[in-house]
Amino acid sequence: MSYPFRDKFLPWPRTPLFTLAKPDGDLKPFWEAHARDFAYVQPNTNFAESAAGDLPIPSTLVNPDTGARIATPEEWPALRETHLRNITRILYGELPPKPQSREVEILKEKEVFDGTALQRILKLTLCNDGKRHEVTVLCYIPKAAQPVPAIVAMNFPGNHGCTDDPDVPLSPWRDQQKPRGDGKSRWNFRLLTDAGFAVITCARYDFYPDDVFGRKESVFRLFHDESELTPRDRQYTAISAWAYGYSILRELAASFPEINAKDIWAHGHSRLGKTALWTIANDPGWAGAISNCSGCAGAKISRRNYGETLEVIDHFFPWWVTHEALPYAQNPAILPFDQHTLIALAAPRPVLVTSAHEDQWADPMGQFLAVKGAQETYQLLGGKPLPSQEYPALEEVLMSPSLGYYERHGIHDVTDQDWTNVINFIRQTR
Ligand code: GCU
Repeated sequence: MSYPFRDKFLPWPRTPLFTLAKPDGDLKPFWEAHARDFAYVQPNTNFAESAAGDLPIPSTLVNPDTGARIATPEEWPALRETHLRNITRILYGELPPKPQSREVEILKEKEVFDGTALQRILKLTLCNDGKRHEVTVLCYIPKAAQPVPAIVAMNFPGNHGCTDDPDVPLSPWRDQQKPRGDGKSRWNFRLLTDAGFAVITCARYDFYPDDVFGRKESVFRLFHDESELTPRDRQYTAISAWAYGYSILRELAASFPEINAKDIWAHGHSRLGKTALWTIANDPGWAGAISNCSGCAGAKISRRNYGETLEVIDHFFPWWVTHEALPYAQNPAILPFDQHTLIALAAPRPVLVTSAHEDQWADPMGQFLAVKGAQETYQLLGGKPLPSQEYPALEEVLMSPSLGYYERHGIHDVTDQDWTNVINFIRQTR
């Protein structure tokens, strides 16, 4: 066994970047150090399979504390709790509690796509201890053969960035507002509604603005004082705030008469793919999840030194994972789980993991190995293994009713081809 991780992450003393965010909001020192460190880390990232190392991946069926292996489905819930606790402590922290109340206001509703679907735009207000937190939700619901399955997927650019439709309100995000329609190629709403799926989305920043100062404006503010939500308060992570948001959206979708409450799927791209997996690990109400190009701290095995590593995430995105992650990020061999364990927490509910050939940063092989590693739990619970244990050819979609994996041509992105694969995957789970 070779230990694959470099001794030195950086050739100069490591300054935790979040400590450089000035209390007055000045981000210049943070971004300068970020750019300097990243300029070293990126060219020094390993993309050679021969140097990825061969650290053994722990079985999801073995208790990391006692070394005891379980053999029956009845033993899984207790072991699952242990894994969930470890992943909470070391990676993503706790999700916020449920709000005391919520208000839903329909802002707009109209027919779209030649009358085949409804577009509904809502303001959802979460209320707790006199504080209010607003989220704008965009929904597309097919009119045929209801109640329909639904896909909940947060977006990066804001709702207005997912479509050219001028009726979709601009969602403001400080100075980083994206132009209308900016990310629309990732959102073929019509393809999904034509296939009979509703889609529910909102901006990720409505639950946690995605930067080192985001915490104080995040949904955590309903439950904590601003003084507890500084860049150092790393137990409150963006990934948990988004996962919380996904489940709030699921509950909203489940309240629509047009939607089948038992058939709601969490989908996320990249950092939101990490989130989709964490979401369904925490909430039994989901039918399943799709991780699109989620990579490190998502569906990729952390014990592989290939592409992005946990150490990179801990350093450059310290608001995504807790401060507990660092010793494990520096020495993944001591992690009591790996990311296949996160997938196994979804079992027996189906999970599809997608990757892209030009997205080696996200380590397609590491994501395949995580799906493969999760199979033991699925099989214990009566699920089906992948149809092959070999790495699939490019574009070949491996899927069983429990798990799916493929690597397509192209870049880190969400394409119509990905959505078509999602639809096919969900259909064959029935
Ligand atoms: C960066 C980051 C990834 C993340 C991605 C994204 O590339 O390193 O971990 O998945 O951003 O969310 O787009």
